[in-house]
Amino acid sequence: MNIGIIGSGNMGRALGKIWSNKGHKVLFSYSREPNNLRALVDSIAPSALVGTPAEAAQFGEVIFLAVPWVAVEDALSAAGSLDGKVLITCVSPLKPDFEGLTTGITAFLEISAAETIAQLVPTAKVVEAFNLTFAEILESESRQFGSEQASVFYCGDDEQAKYVTAELIKESGYEAIDAGPLKTARTLESLATIWVQMAVVTGMFPNVALKVLRR
Ligand SMILES: NC(=O)c1ccc[n+]([C@@H]2O[C@H](COP(=O)([O-])OP(=O)(O)OC[C@H]3O[C@@H](n4cnc5c(N)ncnc54)[C@H](OP(=O)(O)O)[C@@H]3O)[C@@H](O)[C@H]2O)c1
Repeated sequence: MNIGIIGSGNMGRALGKIWSNKGHKVLFSYSREPNNLRALVDSIAPSALVGTPAEAAQFGEVIFLAVPWVAVEDALSAAGSLDGKVLITCVSPLKPDFEGLTTGITAFLEISAAETIAQLVPTAKVVEAFNLTFAEILESESRQFGSEQASVFYCGDDEQAKYVTAELIKESGYEAIDAGPLKTARTLESLATIWVQMAVVTGMFPNVALKVLRR
């Protein structure tokens, strides 16, 4: 599968590398220093391509959006048409100090970052995933916690896009948990705030992950 990465920082780099190692064709894009992207990608996934967000959008059947909330509009505008593409977003509207959501609680209850992204690119099939997953775990040798496999929640309104996302989650070493429609992102993004703060306050950051238990 061709995967276009928009946002080649902690999350974009880590998942792009994993998916490249799994045999997918990956194109990395979007940096304030685009000339540095090739060297960066050479160090993690030499067979991968680099390009502009517009090239990533054209190249990928799947687009992974991994930019800070403040850069979302700019990144999507640079990407251009995402008509029919599966757009996986891990973006949470966290404040820079992770102390809360920039949208504020009232706005947050009305709309999530993922739904806002879906409004900005209405012909893309938007799925939220990985927003509770620390990049440090994705970057480490293994995503396993002993014999345990951590969970990744995903949500969206298009079943085919959710299927593709679930497969990519599994290939990344996680259990994929379908959390429902895209509006569930309101809850997942809120949980991301609590999760980050809790991990930091307890001193467990970054070697923690969420796991759904069943019986
Ligand atoms: N880090 C995590 O563990 C984690 C976990 C779950 C979800 N998330 C979410 O994933 C998204 C990306 O997080 P990240 O940690 O990967 O971020 P990051 O390391 O800061 O990467 C951000 C990417 O966006 C690019 N960018 C372009 N314009 C930018 C601008 N004006 N301001 C900042 N960056 C700009 C950066 O390029 P240059 O820096 O090269 O310019 C970089 O490629 C965020 O929405 C975050 O909430 C992060």
